Amino acid sequence: MERKELIKKYLDFFKSKKHKEIPNASLIPVNDPTVLFTTAGMHPLVPYLTGNKHPLGKRLVNVQRCIRTGDIDEVGDPVHHTFFEMLGNWSLGDYWKDEAIKYTFEFLTKILKMPKEKLAVSCFKGDKTAPKDEESAKIWASLGIAESRIAFLGKEDNWWGPAGKTGPCGPDTEVYYWTASGPAPKSFNPENKNWMEIGNDVLMQYNKASETEYLELEQKNVDFGGGLERTLAILNKLDDNYLSPIFYPIIKEIERHSSKKYDNTLYTASMRIIADHIKAAVMILASGFIKPNNVEQGYVLRRLIRRAISHGKKLGIEENFTAKLVPTILSIYPDYPELNKNKNFIITQLDEEENKFRKTLERALREYKKFAKNKKISGKEGFLLFQSYGLPIEMTEELAKNDKVTYDASTSYALLTKHQALSRTQSAGTFKSGLADHSEQTTKLHTATHLLNAALRRVLGPEVKQRGSNITPERLRFDFNFPRKMTEDEIKKVENLVNKKISQSLTVKREEMTLKKALKEKAQAEFGAKYPNKVSVYTILDKTEKSGFFSKEICTGPHVSNTKEIGTFKILKEQSSSAGIRRIKAVIK
Ligand code: ALA
Repeated sequence: MERKELIKKYLDFFKSKKHKEIPNASLIPVNDPTVLFTTAGMHPLVPYLTGNKHPLGKRLVNVQRCIRTGDIDEVGDPVHHTFFEMLGNWSLGDYWKDEAIKYTFEFLTKILKMPKEKLAVSCFKGDKTAPKDEESAKIWASLGIAESRIAFLGKEDNWWGPAGKTGPCGPDTEVYYWTASGPAPKSFNPENKNWMEIGNDVLMQYNKASETEYLELEQKNVDFGGGLERTLAILNKLDDNYLSPIFYPIIKEIERHSSKKYDNTLYTASMRIIADHIKAAVMILASGFIKPNNVEQGYVLRRLIRRAISHGKKLGIEENFTAKLVPTILSIYPDYPELNKNKNFIITQLDEEENKFRKTLERALREYKKFAKNKKISGKEGFLLFQSYGLPIEMTEELAKNDKVTYDASTSYALLTKHQALSRTQSAGTFKSGLADHSEQTTKLHTATHLLNAALRRVLGPEVKQRGSNITPERLRFDFNFPRKMTEDEIKKVENLVNKKISQSLTVKREEMTLKKALKEKAQAEFGAKYPNKVSVYTILDKTEKSGFFSKEICTGPHVSNTKEIGTFKILKEQSSSAGIRRIKAVIK
């Protein structure tokens, strides 16, 4: 079966169950500092899992591109990836365990025709946060899953989320498929690697507010996630995801460039790592703006590319090859228009990074050998290898492991974190969070941003929503959804309205309240952003409005106490930011 066919079957099935399809969001979360990449289909849905109404209703479905680097060390085996696509369906306070499990079962066994004799499941065994999930087990049993194939496991296995440090989460029930040949054993042993997890229904009932605090969510949600790569391999009767149509063409290319064979076990893992990492790198580069560097997403991207190149070295590839894999990767994913649009950018960035790395690698390895002579590398030395010679810390880790050299990698990582925090504050505002800067000028720009948001909604329509913002002492930048360029007249109207509200000397009031109350009072929340259960709300009071306010937003501040403090507001630019998203840059004088 081809990827396209599996996607169609999945979407069609859930559409037939009254689910609406939502877009496959960007890999780079919009203005969410808690995670670097979209790691699950639920990620862009956080506001709706915590109570906001989704414009498309309570039943949603999509296929979402994801990056997870947590498993990077597992890549090399037949089933792990950093980039993958997730089949996702959701109930936002609508159906619960019964329908969720029945839908999952029906899709797997009726639509995909997986024999139920090859399935096993696990349910949450219970702890002090949540009770044992007997209910899910009963539903599985009623569908014909033998009791010996139902395991109860603890939080490490049967609990999902939150995606960041806080947010929606809950116990889950997972489905496994027997991947080895011959009939599956009667009873399910989760330790047996032949049982491969293919998907899970998260029963999202909690909002993790802090390390120890789990609050009941207002609504019970279901968050299903299934691995497209694994499912596709099963449907093609393969025990190796890398032999499936979404990987094998890349493997073939790597074979060609290295003149080595994939089925030579000396090379299998390296080829898988290269195919996975370069695919992930291509998908990140498709953003059109993330480049390999030493902070945040750029650092992950650099690690992926450099790791792939060093595995290329193991295969004896001495010439640039990463960019040569691009056309093949693009041909596998014709449905991501960003790939073709940014093809030149992707190729150039890969090539430049490969040039840089190849230049320094020889030197880095020489330095590594010097350090490694006395069979011990300190955290500081490892960090120096990264900072001065570009050798990723994990590569030093790998080399040290192979050479039986003791290496204090955790100190290197700690030094790296410190270094990244420093680079962030120094990097000309690129990653600088306006919130960290409480100067008078940024405080004024914060309040001006709220006025701008409200004015845009008045002039362009209430469907306009904030999609991101970034404030430096010099200017504000504001992203919002709107399908076309604003006219000169509209820009002038927005600017005038903001200045009018400044001249009316409106009071800015700050209150603390529950997220639920804030949303009920129609406080604006940013699309895709995560909020804790208790939030602060800033209201710009205005007696000329029926509601009594001009703007109300969930925000951590800081803000001026009266709009007259702001000065004169001026829009410098209105331009496209990405598909359907406009960007305004403005200053105050
Ligand atoms: N959010 C769940 C997962 O990522 C479905 O597995």
